[in-house]
Amino acid sequence: MTGGRIIGWGTALPDKVLTNGDLSVMMDTNDEWITERTGIKRRHIGGSTASLSIESAQRAIDMSGVDPASIDGLVLSTTTPDRTVPATSATVQNALGLRCGAFDVNAACSGFVYAYVVAHGLLAIGAKRLLVIGTDTLSRITDWSDRGTAILFADGSGACVVDAVSEGGQLLGWDLDADGSLEHLLYADVGGYIHMDGKEVFRRAVRIMVDSAHKSLAKAGLSVDDVSLCVPHQANVRIIEAACRQLSLPMDRTAVVLQETGNTSSASIPLALFDAANNGRLSDGDIVLMVGFGAGMTAASAVIEWRAT
Ligand code: UT7
Repeated sequence: MTGGRIIGWGTALPDKVLTNGDLSVMMDTNDEWITERTGIKRRHIGGSTASLSIESAQRAIDMSGVDPASIDGLVLSTTTPDRTVPATSATVQNALGLRCGAFDVNAACSGFVYAYVVAHGLLAIGAKRLLVIGTDTLSRITDWSDRGTAILFADGSGACVVDAVSEGGQLLGWDLDADGSLEHLLYADVGGYIHMDGKEVFRRAVRIMVDSAHKSLAKAGLSVDDVSLCVPHQANVRIIEAACRQLSLPMDRTAVVLQETGNTSSASIPLALFDAANNGRLSDGDIVLMVGFGAGMTAASAVIEWRAT
C-alpha cells in the first residue's frame, strides 16, 4: 500500500510575545502560579489562521524544494478558521499558488494528527504530494478576563509536505477517537469565547492520551520501549508528565515546547515535532509517537518512523 513521508517542514509564531508577567497585569494571576500549574512561561499572540499557515507552509515548501504546482492536496487542521465560509485552506491555497483540492479539518487540539492520518488516506487512493498544516489563533476566541483559560491559549502554525512512497511509508500505526457526549467540557459557540471545565478536561486528557497511545503502538506492533521521542499535545506540562508516567516513558524522551508557545491547539504537535527535528533530537529510523487530545473530546495518535533524508 502507498504510504507517505515528510520531506519538508516549517513553523510560524506571531512576533508579539505575552509573558506570564504581562498576564498578571491584565488579571488576577502571577508567574509562579502559571509556571507551577501549567509549565507555560510565555506565548505568542497575533496574526490570522491564514497568515500563519501561509508562513509555515511556505517554509515547508522551500525546505522540500518542490514546485508548488506539484502539490495535489492541502489539508489544514484548524479550530479557528478566519471565516465560516470559505474554508481557510482556500485562502492559503491561493496565496501559495497551489492548484489543488483544499479543505479544513476540525478535531480541536487533536487536529494535526487527524489531518496527517487523513492525508495518508488520500495518498493510499492516488494523491502524490500533500501539504498538511496545523494552525490555530486561539487568542481570538479567548476571554481575556477569564484566568482559567487566558493563561493557556495562544497562536501558532506548523506545516509539512508529505510525499507518496510505495515502500518505506513512515506511518506505522494510528488511532483517531472522539466522544461527543463530553462536548460541554470544552467548547466555544460560533462568535463566542472558549468555555472549559479545566479540572475535568485534565483528568480525562491523561486517560485518553494513554489509551490512544497504546492503541497506535499495538497497531504498529511496537512497545513504549521502542519510542525514541514522544510528541504530546502541548496543553499543560503536568498533563504530559502524568501521561508519560502512566506510559512508563521518561520525560527526556518527550518533546516539550509549551513553556515558549502555550497551548496552540492544532499547531501544538507540529511545533513540538519540528522543534525536535530542527534541534537534532531526531535521527533517521527513530520511532516517534505523536499523541493529542482536545475538545469533542477527541484523541488521536500516530506512530511514525522518522526519515528526513
Ligand atoms: O487543549 C486542551 C485544553 N485544555 C486543557 O488542557 C486544560 C486542562 N486543565 C488544566 O490545565 C488545569 O485544570 C488548569 C491550568 C486550567 C487549572 O489548574 P488546576 O491545578 O486544575 O487549578 P484549579 O482550577 O483547581 O484552581 C486551583 C486554585 C483555585 O483557588 P482555590 O479555590 O484553591 O483558592 C483557583 O481559583 O488556583 C486558583 N486559580 C488561579 N490562581 C492564579 C485558578 N486559575 C488561576 C490563575 N492564577 N490563572
